Amino acid sequence: MDLTTKYLGLTLKNPIVVGSCGLTSSVSEIKKLEKQGAAAVVLKSIFEEEILMDVENQLREARENGFIYDKYSETLDYIDVHVKEDHLDEYIQLIKAAKKEVLIPIIASINCVSSSVWTHFASHIEEAGADGLELNISLNPSDLVTRDFEQSIKVIIHKVLAQVTVPVTIKLNNSFTHMAKTILDLSQTGISGLVLFNRAYMPDIDINTMEAVQGKSFSSPNDFVESMRWIALLSDKVNCSLAAAKGIHTHEAIIKQILAGADAVQIVSVLYENGIESINGLLSGLEKWMQEKGFSSLEKFKGKASSKNVGNPAVFERIQFMKYFSGIH
Ligand SMILES: Cc1cc2nc3c(=O)[nH]c(=O)nc-3n(C[C@H](O)[C@H](O)[C@H](O)COP(=O)(O)O)c2cc1C
Repeated sequence: MDLTTKYLGLTLKNPIVVGSCGLTSSVSEIKKLEKQGAAAVVLKSIFEEEILMDVENQLREARENGFIYDKYSETLDYIDVHVKEDHLDEYIQLIKAAKKEVLIPIIASINCVSSSVWTHFASHIEEAGADGLELNISLNPSDLVTRDFEQSIKVIIHKVLAQVTVPVTIKLNNSFTHMAKTILDLSQTGISGLVLFNRAYMPDIDINTMEAVQGKSFSSPNDFVESMRWIALLSDKVNCSLAAAKGIHTHEAIIKQILAGADAVQIVSVLYENGIESINGLLSGLEKWMQEKGFSSLEKFKGKASSKNVGNPAVFERIQFMKYFSGIH
């Protein structure tokens, strides 16, 4: 059974990529994920704010200890750069060590909100040997300041692509006014892939204390439908590879995403809830289904149920939604 797939120009031994999370933040965990069958991992993100905050903290400490004086601006500049590079170094060491210890592709991840100082770090990530770079661009949809999000993302992409030759992929959130056009436009910027979708932080309200509290940390098994829909609608139109993410907990969900046209899937919540051993079960479920259906490779059924290939593409559209509700009395 040939489970290989091409994602970001990389050949993956199967479509299961472990998404960015705490399970990918150490070499020992990454080795375990590889052993269970993961085809690639996205490292825990390094955060733009985290880097900047670290720089600020260390600068403040240095000032308090009298190590530097504001009037010596060159010293300040030196420490500024030095501290940033120190912080990056931990991440760089993780990439280098992971590349030594495992065979599967290592995709680094940066969580960012702007195209500021961090973009040059991308080149260090490439030098360390990362096979790709995923950007989780966390523009805040509740931001009341008018800002062209799509344009902001394009500026970030432009700056990062100027720094690296490794494939770059963007993990998008699902709140764009014109989703189809945004996805198509971004796929034509020179990036190698898009991850649909990021899971937004979910708050909740405790009705006893009437306080705002943290909501559910993990996705639900039926959350996968959203990315499946957009992948089915756009997989034959985009100019880059697509990974489905969010709510993929079962082998059935993986099969559906590939039928819709996904090149790979990213999983996280299911690994926290059911253990990393579940990768094995997901892969055998996929293989068993392929056997039953007589598919010898993933390529044979990838995109078979995309909106272009199904007899009833309207099922992915609003019109079907209207029909569905008009039928319920
Ligand atoms: C504990 C945890 C930590 C995460 N950390 C990151 C992170 O550092 N960077 C990132 O881009 N996404 C992060 N995510 C989001 C996941 O990569 C993934 O996109 C999201 O959980 C949806 O996939 P799932 O439904 O399989 O969990 C995290 C998710 C969880 C549950």
